[in-house]
Amino acid sequence: MYFHIWLLVVCCVTSVYASTTPTRTVHKRSNSPFITVADGQFQANGSPIKFIGTNAYWLPVLNTDADINNTLASIAATGSKVVRLWAFNDVDTIPVNGTWFQLINKDGSTQFNTGPNGVQQLDKVIQLAEQNNLFVLLSLTNNWNPRPLLDNITQSIELTPRDVTSGTNNSLPRNYLSNDYGGMDVYVRQLGENLAHDQFYTNQTLINAFQNYITQLVSRYVNSTAVFAWEIANDPRCNSSIPGSSSCSTTTITQWHSTIAQHIRSVDPNHLVSAGTAGFLCADCPKLFPVAPVPPPQTSPVAGVTRRRRDVGPISKARILLEQTKLRKRNREAAKQAGTLPQTGIKIRGRWVSTPERRQDTGVGPAFDGSSGVDSEDIGNIPDVGFVSFQLFPDQNTYGPVDPNLPALNNTIQVGINWIQSQAQVGTTLNKPVLLTGFGVVTQNNSQAFVPFNSSVAPFGPDTTASTSFAAVQPFGVTDDQRNDIYSQLITAGVDSGINGMLQYQWQQTGLTESPGTTISSDTPGDTVSPTPSGTGVSPDDGYSGNDGVQQIISNGAAAFGP
Ligand SMILES: *[C@@H]1O[C@H](CO)[C@@H](O)[C@H](O)[C@H]1NC(C)=O
Ligand SMILES: *[C@@H]1O[C@H](CO)[C@@H](O)[C@H](O)[C@H]1NC(C)=O
Ligand SMILES: *[C@@H]1O[C@H](CO)[C@@H](O)[C@H](O)[C@H]1NC(C)=O
Ligand SMILES: *[C@@H]1O[C@H](CO)[C@@H](O)[C@H](O)[C@H]1NC(C)=O
Ligand SMILES: *[C@@H]1O[C@H](CO)[C@@H](O)[C@H](O)[C@H]1NC(C)=O
Ligand SMILES: *[C@@H]1O[C@H](CO)[C@@H](O)[C@H](O)[C@H]1NC(C)=O
Ligand SMILES: *[C@@H]1O[C@H](CO)[C@@H](O)[C@H](O)[C@H]1NC(C)=O
Ligand SMILES: *[C@@H]1O[C@H](CO)[C@@H](O)[C@H](O)[C@H]1NC(C)=O
Ligand SMILES: *[C@@H]1O[C@H](CO)[C@@H](O)[C@H](O)[C@H]1NC(C)=O
Ligand SMILES: *[C@@H]1O[C@H](CO)[C@@H](O)[C@H](O)[C@H]1NC(C)=O
Repeated sequence: MYFHIWLLVVCCVTSVYASTTPTRTVHKRSNSPFITVADGQFQANGSPIKFIGTNAYWLPVLNTDADINNTLASIAATGSKVVRLWAFNDVDTIPVNGTWFQLINKDGSTQFNTGPNGVQQLDKVIQLAEQNNLFVLLSLTNNWNPRPLLDNITQSIELTPRDVTSGTNNSLPRNYLSNDYGGMDVYVRQLGENLAHDQFYTNQTLINAFQNYITQLVSRYVNSTAVFAWEIANDPRCNSSIPGSSSCSTTTITQWHSTIAQHIRSVDPNHLVSAGTAGFLCADCPKLFPVAPVPPPQTSPVAGVTRRRRDVGPISKARILLEQTKLRKRNREAAKQAGTLPQTGIKIRGRWVSTPERRQDTGVGPAFDGSSGVDSEDIGNIPDVGFVSFQLFPDQNTYGPVDPNLPALNNTIQVGINWIQSQAQVGTTLNKPVLLTGFGVVTQNNSQAFVPFNSSVAPFGPDTTASTSFAAVQPFGVTDDQRNDIYSQLITAGVDSGINGMLQYQWQQTGLTESPGTTISSDTPGDTVSPTPSGTGVSPDDGYSGNDGVQQIISNGAAAFGP
């Protein structure tokens, strides 16, 4: 029973390479009520699905059922099919108000909160998602959890305000920022002996604690047809708010994914499991799950289409460098034609945005060299991992060399498109679907909420030529119009590349019920940062909250991805 569905998938993957039979007719899906994978596609009720969706990590912390339902109904109204959210909320002390799922004590004991301020909130989200014809993608932990600086100062206050960046004093309520729901570093702080982030991946005590949480949480929703899949962790890496040790490498994190994926499927054989990494790739890293050698190109009997060899091989350094060079040449040619070829950089609004020192060296760059400890292709090839996943956050990560022939905005779009195409190739190589689980850029309007992360690579500096004082105080960010342009182009690229779904990061909901001492309260920054109206509760914002303009783009994207 446990292996039933999965063996079918393995059989299909093999047969794509082993025979020339048109796969479409052979692998008609079963009548499984759950999301499955066949022919490299997600399947629902026996038919392939592609989709757009969004993120709302905060859904379980809303104060009323009506708020949860209204939010889900608004999301569904855009044509979104999937919403991704946090299915963890770890604390080291039970808070007076607000939601929490798991208490992790120093002595190693844990408490799973099945009460109304615990996982009953998640029960509601899942139940109401189903009523709104939405699937939920549930993430089980987070790499990031900076410790609030104000803990010591405000011990007398039951609901500790957060100050997530040392040197700043942002009094944000617990659960406001996406990195303030506990996660790996709570386990490390509470259970680890010598503080190193990667203890979470290697120390059996910590692995057991996380698996214990998974058993309790996951078994609750084993039969829910509203669960799209389990996501093992958001953005796992060797490093975090607690630094990793030097022994952590891509094989550390790949091995951990394999262990956890196997555990989830032993608890819940019904749902797919995915990784949730940023999608970083590594051509030269040692592999635990090597991709089978590519067979010679074959002519398909269907319309005589030849599968191109370069599209199905594993990622290689030579291929990455070749593609980067080709792209740069093309841009240079285009710039020459247009008479805009710069000498040493490009000036936008009186400001040099491409300077020689911003140019990349000759390496493949951090998204392709394994330096974060993530090899998404190796993780994607784990048998218990059902699909390839990745993220796209140009304000936080570098995905490719900056092309001096292009303005900063165009660079951001181009590296984003290239990143999507690289991931689509990984999906083709592994014959698994590909899901972009979060994409977004920070706008000037919400950049204030982004600052607490402070691990950012901002591609757009303050516009010092702007006359308004408002623009001058913004640390960085694109305008709303530029963001909309970027999102539209990325969605088009996603559809064209053949990836199977894209989830915008993150949804903005207004008109929420405020309650003192909770995440949605009148003193949260969401009520003061433009353009959110004051007086009504606004959903949390960690720098990416999207307004009506974004919601229109999601609607357009839903149509582009298909019914
Ligand atoms: C939730 O919203 C859906 C659709 O908007 C509606 O059909 C359903 O009755 C609502 N459920 C509750 C409990 O309010
Ligand atoms: C908080 O208290 C702990 C233990 O007393 C101490 O080690 C730490 O430095 C304090 N942190 C701050 C920010 O004061
Ligand atoms: C965080 O970022 C802001 C804006 O860029 C900057 O002013 C501040 O100094 C940074 N703080 C730290 C601790 O890096
Ligand atoms: C931080 O902000 C809080 C609330 O505004 C204030 O009470 C506290 O004195 C500030 N602490 C520091 C170190 O600036
Ligand atoms: C794992 O963590 C536990 C609890 O901190 C500790 O007692 C044990 O020595 C650690 N094991 C290893 C191999 O580091
Ligand atoms: C799920 O369904 C199976 C088979 O019908 C049943 O044995 C099991 O108790 C159900 N689990 C939950 C959590 O409802
Ligand atoms: C990990 O983070 C520390 C401190 O933030 C930094 O010094 C180190 O270079 C990082 N290591 C890697 C591999 O990114
Ligand atoms: C840069 O992007 C903008 C907006 O998408 C576009 O209008 C413009 O033509 C692009 N410029 C270049 C040089 O590609
Ligand atoms: C910020 O939001 C307001 C209100 O939606 C909008 O009018 C303004 O253009 C936005 N600012 C930028 C720089 O996009
Ligand atoms: C907890 O909630 C109660 C009831 O809403 C409120 O009166 C109280 O101020 C809250 N406590 C904190 C610490 O915010």
